[in-house]
Amino acid sequence: MIIAIDGPAASGKGTLARRIAGHFGYQCLDTGLLYRAVAHDMLSRNISLEDTQAAEWAARSLDPARLDDPSLRLPGVGNAASVVARMPGVRAALLDLQRNFAAQEPGAVLDGRDIGTVVCPEADAKLFITAAVEVRARRRYDELIGRGEPVTYEGVLDEIRRRDQRDAGRAEAPMAVAADAMLLDTTNLAIEAAFDAAVGLIKRKIGQ
Ligand code: C5P
Repeated sequence: MIIAIDGPAASGKGTLARRIAGHFGYQCLDTGLLYRAVAHDMLSRNISLEDTQAAEWAARSLDPARLDDPSLRLPGVGNAASVVARMPGVRAALLDLQRNFAAQEPGAVLDGRDIGTVVCPEADAKLFITAAVEVRARRRYDELIGRGEPVTYEGVLDEIRRRDQRDAGRAEAPMAVAADAMLLDTTNLAIEAAFDAAVGLIKRKIGQ
């Protein structure tokens, strides 16, 4: 069983993916962390984010055990991730890891931008999670302030807008709604209601 969850930055898809995986007893992979790990590796070695060869090398030598590093979640790393995520060689290097993860029994939940379209086009259920950009920015701002990060609401909003544009506009595996994806707009939904709605849609789709 494969559940694909895509959506723009700060749409809450990561939280939903983890909770959905817990509900069904599946493993969960936040694929954004893979691109963040590549970018973080480049940043920490002072390598230009435009250096395609170095980015591909970082992607090929990525250590999945390091994906729980909290510094991967910093806002600057998300932005840098969307720069290296444009590179076809980087995406190709991360594909097997994602598909192997998806193949495990009894099931897997993967969240990202291209899960339903490129990584797992055969997924049993596909969700595309959206929310108004101002609402996404507000949620991300509150989360970052709660962690003591020195951010402004306008800065977060601007960063999310630029990242969404880059992710949707790139040539390789752009963020897109798969033809058979179910849309869930969480603009007016708290996390509990969004979770209930997501589980309802998935159950209907997989016939449970
Ligand atoms: O989901 P998250 O915000 O952590 O992703 C960071 C960046 O990684 C995204 O902005 C996007 O550029 C890239 N990404 C991607 N494909 C995925 C997941 C993330 O290109 N499946």
